[in-house]
Amino acid sequence: MGKIVAIGNQKGGVGKTTTTFNLGAALAELDQKVLWVDLDPQASLTIYCGFDPDTFNKTIYNVLKGNSSIDHICQPTTFGPDLLPANLDLAIIEMELFNTIARERQLACVLSSVRDDYDFILIDCQPSLGLLMLNALTVSDEVIIPISCEYLAMRGVAGLLKMIDKVKLQLNSQLKIRGILPTMFDRRTKHAHDTLEQIRHQFEPKVPVFNHVIYRSIRFAESALKGESILTYAKNIPGAESYRNLARELSREANKTGKRLSPFSIDNSQCTMDN
Ligand SMILES: Nc1ncnc2c1ncn2[C@@H]1O[C@H](COP(=O)(O)OP(=O)(O)O)[C@@H](O)[C@H]1O
Ligand SMILES: [Mg+2]
Repeated sequence: MGKIVAIGNQKGGVGKTTTTFNLGAALAELDQKVLWVDLDPQASLTIYCGFDPDTFNKTIYNVLKGNSSIDHICQPTTFGPDLLPANLDLAIIEMELFNTIARERQLACVLSSVRDDYDFILIDCQPSLGLLMLNALTVSDEVIIPISCEYLAMRGVAGLLKMIDKVKLQLNSQLKIRGILPTMFDRRTKHAHDTLEQIRHQFEPKVPVFNHVIYRSIRFAESALKGESILTYAKNIPGAESYRNLARELSREANKTGKRLSPFSIDNSQCTMDN
């Protein structure tokens, strides 16, 4: 039973997709079987994986709507993990699912059929607290919250934390915040050091903050442009090492825990696929 991890923050541009992508690639380096789920209509993760989102006739949108099976859209990638791709179609799903029974469990229904095939399922969330985010939190075991070490970094996180509390109470009692992941840390500036200290001060000990800090580097943008992960494009920079260390920590834990019981068992017969 694979561990499902949502990578989310209501704010855009904080490193969600970069984290989903490079963490997934780093887990694959450790022989972990990984599925990436692109749950953002902007489809950045799909693009990072080397695909043109507009060329897909069917994506995660169709699977969530119940008019395609996961096998039909799942793409192997050259980075190791498989991908459930997205494109702009996904932007209207929130409206379309509005009247569906158990609309917050559509993703859980979708993933229940493949969960046993993977060690990790990483969900790249869109920067909003809407129905897609609710679906991600309802099915996930853990959430990683990337926060950039910059001015106003903490804005928006309070809303996400409130939403997580509500989901834990009402939909998924096993959900756990795995940690806040400080990203874009420029170790040369006092501002970044101050912000990192502020992040720790504001959230710990209630919400854990990873010791792994993702350093700022132009290599991340360059690697995306080149269609590579940071692990191959600039394998020795500290940011690459941080993602490797994070992957080591997650996979060590998963190995220790061994086969896990489902925190959120889905009875497939309850999946509404008639939207
Ligand atoms: N550690 C980093 N250092 C420098 N630039 C980064 C870093 N992580 C991500 N970026 C860049 O910042 C931009 C936004 O990152 P992205 O992962 O797409 O954020 P999000 O998914 O939260 O919107 C991208 O251009 C990406 O290449
Ligand atoms: Mg993104």
